[in-house]
Order: sequence, then structure tokens, then C-alpha cells
Amino acid sequence: MEKVRVGIIGAGGRANFQAKSILESSKGELKIVSSPVEEEAKRFAEKYRIEWTLDWHKIIERDDINAVTVSTPNSTHHQIVSSALKVGKDVLVEYPMALKDEDAAEMIKLAKEKNLILWVSLTERLENPHITIKGQLNSIGEPLLAYATYIAAGLSGWYADTSLRGNPFASIQFHYIDQFRNLFGEIKEVNATMNEKEENGKLLYSASSLMLGFDNGCNGFVEFGMGLPPGTGFREKVIGTKGYFDFVGGKLTRATAENKNEIPLLETKLSSDTSNYLEAIISGQGNVQTAEEGKKSLAVASAAFRSAQEGIRIKL
Ligand SMILES: NC(=O)c1ccc[n+]([C@@H]2O[C@H](COP(=O)([O-])OP(=O)(O)OC[C@H]3O[C@@H](n4cnc5c(N)ncnc54)[C@H](O)[C@@H]3O)[C@@H](O)[C@H]2O)c1
Repeated sequence: MEKVRVGIIGAGGRANFQAKSILESSKGELKIVSSPVEEEAKRFAEKYRIEWTLDWHKIIERDDINAVTVSTPNSTHHQIVSSALKVGKDVLVEYPMALKDEDAAEMIKLAKEKNLILWVSLTERLENPHITIKGQLNSIGEPLLAYATYIAAGLSGWYADTSLRGNPFASIQFHYIDQFRNLFGEIKEVNATMNEKEENGKLLYSASSLMLGFDNGCNGFVEFGMGLPPGTGFREKVIGTKGYFDFVGGKLTRATAENKNEIPLLETKLSSDTSNYLEAIISGQGNVQTAEEGKKSLAVASAAFRSAQEGIRIKL
């Protein structure tokens, strides 16, 4: 295969990221975009000089398209991805790959049966400070405590609609659940709480907290809030037996008994994720590796939601 011919489903923030990453990789050719919002679809199509449609079915039924990227609201992923796999397209989907564990399992089964690629775009694993901390984790000894907090002022669009977004753990907390799994390994128990206020079908705010117990003995805590002006932004700490990392105000500090220094963040390239997806297609082999990872993080999120709803601690 020369270049992969790609259809872009969704025309918002992440669809733009995928389109730019495909062009930058030189491994793919953009063919068409879909969005139910005409203005948005047209604008996207003009920007990348491609065709547009309001209906994603029109993309997956085309024979001249090998693969799609799916960057749409969370609740639509399962249907769009399953439909695309059924007609033989390789698929990249944003996280969370689905909102239910059983849907994620079904999508992986479908991809395996058809020897296709189901790629979950876990670009959070390529972000900073995550990759910098991961590369130097041993320098703070055995990790015992990890803390991530992100409080955003804004809450709008489909993020404010729980029928499109899903529960807060599968959607917004997923980012840190997956990063922490990538740093510390599997999670054995969760204990979560949440408080969300809805008015006329729209969320006014979302606040959730999640305690995680890892197999390696590390204890994690994630708090996430949206619609809480002015917001506090992002902070992360990892504390080990010989020191700690503290990321705050865009700066990463490492402290040990001997010294405390700001350390430079590694260079990172989020677009390499999309490039790797195209490379996997070109190699001609089915691949569900990232989907298996996405499914495991989703299982933690699902358990967290149950924990918050039922007021119980859950062992995984
Ligand atoms: N990996 C990451 O770091 C990361 C970051 C942000 C978002 N995401 C994920 O990316 C996905 C898209 O998020 P976004 O920020 O690009 O959203 P967005 O609002 O910018 O774009 C969503 C797009 O989907 C379209 N759409 C809306 N309803 C639809 C429907 N019913 N069917 C088909 N298309 C529909 C919208 O018109 C828009 O084009 C979400 O699943 C989100 O969780 C991942």
C-alpha cells in the first residue's frame, strides 16, 4: 500500500489534530470529513481541501477509503467504530473507546475477527510531565503516592450533556486513570465519589474524586472538576521512598534528600501516535494493542462510577 486513504469522522478539536498529524506523517492522504454541523464540515473541508458530508455512513461505505479516524462525542464511538469495522475499515478512535465495558470488548472482538486495526488514541501517554516522570521514575525510589488534579473553569458543548459524555470517570477522569496505569501498572481497587449538578439537561458543574490502589503498592488520588471558575489548572505529584516529583505551574521539580531542582521536560510529539496507526495499517497486520489498554482503563473507570453510585470500595 502506498499512502493510507483516510476518512475523518468529526470535525472538532481532535479531528483537526488527527488531520494535521496524518499530513505531517506523509503516510496518509485525507479524503473526506463528516460532521452533522454543516458549517463545521465545510470549514474543515476547505481548510484541508477535501470532500465533506453530514453523514459518517457515507464515509465508511466508500471503497476508496482504507481507514477512518473517529473524533466524535464519547457516546457515538461504539456505533461508528463497530459499523466501520464491519465493513472492513481500520479504525482509530479517541478515548474513551466506548462507554460500556461490554461494548469495548465487542469492538475488540470484531477487529480481531476481521484482522483489522482498532487503535485507541492514547496520546495522554505521550504528554508532559507524564513522559518525563516516567523516564526518571526510578530516581525517587519506590513510588508510594501519586496525585493528579485538574480543575477547569469551562463546561460546555457535549461535555455538558451526560447522554453524549457518559460518566465523569469514563470521560474526563480517564486521562489520568490511563496515565497512572501506564506509570504504576494494574489497579486492584477503587473508591470514588462524585457531585454533578444538571439544569435543563445541561451540566452546570462536575466534581469527582478517585482513590486508586495499585498492585505495586502505590496509592493514587485523582480529582477532576469542570465548570468551576476560575479553575486551578493541572498539578501532579508522585512521591516515592527516596524523593518526589511535583509538577505545578508548568514546571517540574524533583526533590531527593540531597537536592531539589527544576528538571527540563522531555521533548514530545503527540502526532507520533497517529503516525504509528498509519504505519500499522501499512504493515498489513491486525492490531488491537492500544484497544486492549483502552479497555483496561475503561474497566477502572466503570468500577469507579459504580463505586461512586453505590458508595462502596470496589476490588478489581
Ligand atoms: N487523547 C486526548 O488527549 C483527547 C483530548 C480531548 C478529547 N479527546 C476525545 O476526543 C473526542 C472528540 O473530542 P473533541 O474535543 O474533538 O470534541 P469537539 O466537540 O471539538 O468535536 C466533536 C465533533 O463531533 C461532531 N459530532 C457531534 N455529535 C455527533 C454525532 N452524534 N455523530 C457524529 N459526530 C458528531 C461535532 O460536530 C464535532 O465535529 C472525545 O471522545 C474526547 O473524549 C481526547
